[in-house]
Amino acid sequence: MIGFGMIFDDTYRPVFEAQTDGPLYSRLTGPVDVRLTAAASRTGIRAARYLASPAGRRVPFANFAGPNATANLLASGVDAVCVATPDDRHYDAARAAINAGKHVLIEKPSVLALGELDELNRLASERGVLAKVVYHKLADPDHKKLRTLYQDGVLSHVNSGYCSLLEPKSISGGQFAEWIAGRNPATYVAVHYLKLIDFSFGPNWVLDRVSATGQRGLVGPANGSTWDSVQLQIVYRHPDAREAAFDVHTSWVTPDNFPGYVEQEVQFRFDNAVWSAHQRKRGVELTVENRTPGELKYTPNYHYNGTFLEPWGERSQRGYGIEIIERFFKEVAFVEYGGSPDQRPARLAQMRALAYNDLSADRNCVAIVQALEAILARAAGGAPGCVAKVNGPAGGLVLYEPGSAKPLVLYEGRV
Ligand SMILES: NC(=O)c1ccc[n+]([C@@H]2O[C@H](COP(=O)([O-])OP(=O)(O)OC[C@H]3O[C@@H](n4cnc5c(N)ncnc54)[C@H](O)[C@@H]3O)[C@@H](O)[C@H]2O)c1
Repeated sequence: MIGFGMIFDDTYRPVFEAQTDGPLYSRLTGPVDVRLTAAASRTGIRAARYLASPAGRRVPFANFAGPNATANLLASGVDAVCVATPDDRHYDAARAAINAGKHVLIEKPSVLALGELDELNRLASERGVLAKVVYHKLADPDHKKLRTLYQDGVLSHVNSGYCSLLEPKSISGGQFAEWIAGRNPATYVAVHYLKLIDFSFGPNWVLDRVSATGQRGLVGPANGSTWDSVQLQIVYRHPDAREAAFDVHTSWVTPDNFPGYVEQEVQFRFDNAVWSAHQRKRGVELTVENRTPGELKYTPNYHYNGTFLEPWGERSQRGYGIEIIERFFKEVAFVEYGGSPDQRPARLAQMRALAYNDLSADRNCVAIVQALEAILARAAGGAPGCVAKVNGPAGGLVLYEPGSAKPLVLYEGRV
């Protein structure tokens, strides 16, 4: 585990804790044990605290900290590596892990530039390992149904939509304060919806262009490079040449006493349908004196991640945020133990062909993130209103600035 922060505690910890109670199993692999054996982070403080807790004492692991933490972890004999560092530090950790021949799972967004994605994909092929990214929204039952209805032709021809994801101020002001300078909330969370759109309504369309704007002044100075909120627009073109446009709004300055922890809603419009969904207003409303909306939420989403007393008496923590990580280990287990060693390349190819999480299928999302970062950097530098064109005559990802005749090529190859 490289990076041992909030998301480790939310989703990876429950996976590893559940694995100590019983192995992964399928008929092809037989039982496969998954163990957290090493962690690397900046200070090692959270990992040390966890190791000292009753749950941590059940899964002892090596705790590496400081500048050589990743190298020490890779030398410690791990088989697979999960990267959950801040988003601008995914690439170095993932590259080192893949280069060392480890299967890798990276938190979203996988990387911030197409050149980095190319390098990770090239190395993964060369070393014969999986390189995957976590997009848990694809495992949300509502989103699975959305995609199923679209792929089955019940919802026909998506035309437009909006997605909104608003994080509380405690994220920008406390949780992420160490690394937030120069960052924006869209790279961090819009990617959930970028992948949902790209995966659910693809693959028979092409990404055409990206634009974005946003607000500053709360997390950092009003003329600085740290963003409070961002409005991103992406445009795809269907094979019949009709366009589809999506607006994705993100923020990390919503009040902390907001009724639900994260405010998320979507609407997608089709030739024959409208799909509207709210992530937390799924029917439960709860008020507890002195405990909501701080510790407990008024409108909780127990489908993502919840702690339960199961009807059969066990305590559990589960949800699609956890299931998506377990699924990675099932894919690793299938590659390594799902049949004879001489068939490993075929099993690896089968798992690498899964577009929902393979880095080779993350090109559109990374292109949008790279364009977004460039557009926001230009805006902070005094040139708002840039548009990035995808796979046009001037290159794979090209930035056009209002009033300037000279485009800036961000990526030459085809996206
Ligand atoms: N799937 C989701 O819904 C979800 C939710 C939150 C965060 N995330 C993603 O998870 C990642 C981490 O987010 P977080 O909320 O856990 O952040 P965090 O700030 O709570 O934790 C970051 C961790 O990375 C470590 N770290 C920082 N630089 C490092 C380096 N160079 N080498 C090794 N370790 C380093 C820190 O010590 C810390 O343990 C981000 O990419 C974020 O986008 C995903």
